Amino acid sequence: MLRVPAFRLLGRAGASRVSLLEDFSLRHYSSGALCVRDDTGDARAYFTTPIFYVNAAPHIGHLYSALLADALCRHHRLRVPSAAATRFSTGTDEHGLKIQQAAAAAGLAPSELCDRVSAQFQQLFREADISSTDFIRTTEARHRVAVQHFWRVLKARGLLYKGLYEGWYCASDECFLPEAKVTRQPGPSGELCPVSLESGHPVSWTKEENYIFRLSQFREPLQRWLRGDPQAITPEPFHHAVLQWLEEELPDLSVSRRSSHLHWGIPVPGDDSQTIYVWLDALVNYLTVIGYPNAEFKSWWPTTSHIIGKDILKFHAIYWPALLLGAGINPPHRIYVHSHWTVCGQKMSKSLGNVVDPRTCLDRYTVDGFRYFLLRQGVPNWDCDYYDEKVVKLLDAELADSLGGLLNRCTANRINPSGTYPAFCTTCFPSEPGLRGASVRAQTEDYALVSAVTTLPKQVADHYDNFQIYKALEAVSTCVRQTNGFVQRHAPWKLNWESPVDAPWLGTVLHVALECLRVFGTLLQPVTPSLADKLLSRLGVSATERGLGELYFLPRFYGHPCPFEGRRLGPETGVLFPRLDQSRAWLVKAHKT
Ligand code: MSP
Repeated sequence: MLRVPAFRLLGRAGASRVSLLEDFSLRHYSSGALCVRDDTGDARAYFTTPIFYVNAAPHIGHLYSALLADALCRHHRLRVPSAAATRFSTGTDEHGLKIQQAAAAAGLAPSELCDRVSAQFQQLFREADISSTDFIRTTEARHRVAVQHFWRVLKARGLLYKGLYEGWYCASDECFLPEAKVTRQPGPSGELCPVSLESGHPVSWTKEENYIFRLSQFREPLQRWLRGDPQAITPEPFHHAVLQWLEEELPDLSVSRRSSHLHWGIPVPGDDSQTIYVWLDALVNYLTVIGYPNAEFKSWWPTTSHIIGKDILKFHAIYWPALLLGAGINPPHRIYVHSHWTVCGQKMSKSLGNVVDPRTCLDRYTVDGFRYFLLRQGVPNWDCDYYDEKVVKLLDAELADSLGGLLNRCTANRINPSGTYPAFCTTCFPSEPGLRGASVRAQTEDYALVSAVTTLPKQVADHYDNFQIYKALEAVSTCVRQTNGFVQRHAPWKLNWESPVDAPWLGTVLHVALECLRVFGTLLQPVTPSLADKLLSRLGVSATERGLGELYFLPRFYGHPCPFEGRRLGPETGVLFPRLDQSRAWLVKAHKT
């Protein structure tokens, strides 16, 4: 019997080079995110989205996967300014039976379909401001080299054997299913058809000789990996679910198909009669991007974070780590899992005709508006429902009224005629709460605001680390409301710049509100890059002052000089985010139908 090589289950390869971001000297801020520093002190991170099937045009669920990865990656770049330290890959999954069949149904050659739909994904991601550093297509030559090399390594390690595979195959999901995962449903003409219990997609009986991967040997190594690294799969319920799956038997996995049946794929090296299973082919994309099989991939791999939807958890949390271990590579550092978007309570599907086109949404709600909506409302642990009114309500309330209103209140010529960042007066707002004196104007709630905004960057970073981006946005939004309350409470429009009594306090109120806005703008960059840029530019914050390392909130309160005090605000850039409800004819139409 073949023995599986002894794997070093580090979970975190190159542990001695791994340092927590706590090392970063960020005031009010630390993070549990893992980085690997190279000899020049670079802190690296590698984020990936799933690669997208090209059988149909992109929908909002696909965009959501990419946006989550984009926000994580952008947040990392705020922590580690050196651009070279971050890689972020996305791409298209172009081989397999599903694509072969979709091309045949459309009367196209598979390569034509791939070119067409891959271009749609690329265009969507450009328009949506996805800041990926690599777009991979599995039909590229560099990928074929990586997949065939990976295959040869598995083969050389004795982990592939030829055997008869007999069972169900679901082309839509590109997976094999045991009998227990198959049910019968009435088909178009009333007869009972076998379908996948999980996805409801049709399955067909397959019996053929394939190459088989000794997956069963990896049950214990996978359990050890997951038990030794409780955050490997985040959020926790998904980690738990995978451990539960591993309690069950883990059968070996068929990893090739007969070429006569599946010709659209990468041939098995040395055996043209077989095509490599599309999931093995697709998963290796994560290695291709970082240069595998060249040794350079080793410096990026330990920093890998995969962002995936819950439907592909088994492939990423069981098959992929087992294949990696089989090839002598450690499992990925993190797997972040998200749930799905439904539309008006139903699963999105072509047959139901309810697929939401993301490009229409970007058009209607603006790029930043739609990015904000998906990331603010999308909860990783549960499915979320999409409908247009929800977007309008959220964006009008949080971006137009609350944030835009706050900026307007502090920068409008009427209230801030000098167009500057006014001075902070420590006598009006002493750093110690409860001090009494004629000139002390700050109230208890004002100290609560300062404390909330001081700890906000750390809170936001923790939410990013736990893949709860919606909570990060909720925390920012709560602070924006609190700041509006502060401005409302002190009604600067009732104070007079000409009065020696009012002027220092008026300046202080504006200074505090502008400082809060600076923090909000900085923290919103990963989610709404253009809107944050507009906000920070209006505040006069330069490009080199927008990282988390530079984010010293209200330094004057803490007894330090403030570089912004007395500085001219940036030029007037108009309304930060226009209200949507009155201005959009399409919404009226949507209400009527
Ligand atoms: N090609 C595979 C992934 C291979 S990765 C090595 C695949 N592609 S997919 O196009 O079907 O899905 C890509 C991503 O979109 C997955 O993360 C999936 O969960 C996500 N979504 C698909 N429909 C979705 C929703 N309705 N809502 C949110 N995300 C959804 O699987």
